[in-house]
Amino acid sequence: APGAEQWVPHDGGMRKVRESLPDCRGCELWENAEHVVPGEGPVRARMMLIGETPGDQEDKEGHVFVGPAGHLLDKALVEAGIDRTQVYLTNAVKHFRYERQGKRRIHKTPSAGQITACHPWLTRELEIVKPALVVVMGSVAAKALLGASFRVTQQRGQRLELPGRQTAVATVHPSSVLRSNDFRRDFEQFVSDLRTAVDLLG
Ligand code: URA
Ligand code: SF4
Repeated sequence: APGAEQWVPHDGGMRKVRESLPDCRGCELWENAEHVVPGEGPVRARMMLIGETPGDQEDKEGHVFVGPAGHLLDKALVEAGIDRTQVYLTNAVKHFRYERQGKRRIHKTPSAGQITACHPWLTRELEIVKPALVVVMGSVAAKALLGASFRVTQQRGQRLELPGRQTAVATVHPSSVLRSNDFRRDFEQFVSDLRTAVDLLG
């Protein structure tokens, strides 16, 4: 796969990005998806949150974090005092990756090649929004932005710096909190990382 670069517009801002995304053939994931899922939120947001890949419901609707992980994220944002309408929310990979099991579509973690292929879109979003703070949610986003050796479990909740110099904090992905067998603890830790992000913004 060629990677997304040739489909990414370098002029025209976020509107052009949204118009161009559906044409992307940077990896094979577009073939079996219903929608590409662009980032959402104010282009002047000071905080950008980056997830993994759209889920089943996001793929059907074409919007970020509208499924179960999104509901959990909504609750955590409220607890942390973050207004969802004021942040820019996006994913490291813009098309849903899944495996069919009968009638069900089961989420699959994007491969390293797919994460790399989709990266030019994320780079462009970062260039346009220029967030003061980036929240990296889960290991796929961490791979995309912090490298393969980054360990979310060990380095979550700390002030980090991305290669592009933005301040960042890593945390788990909201869907991992959903699957947790110690939900209360893991939800509180997730909220605590989001509060750290708010503190870092100042
Ligand atoms: N998980 C993500 O990482 N992003 C979404 O949009 C939905 C679920
Ligand atoms: Fe392009 Fe990313 Fe979709 Fe692959 S997942 S086709 S690189 S937008």
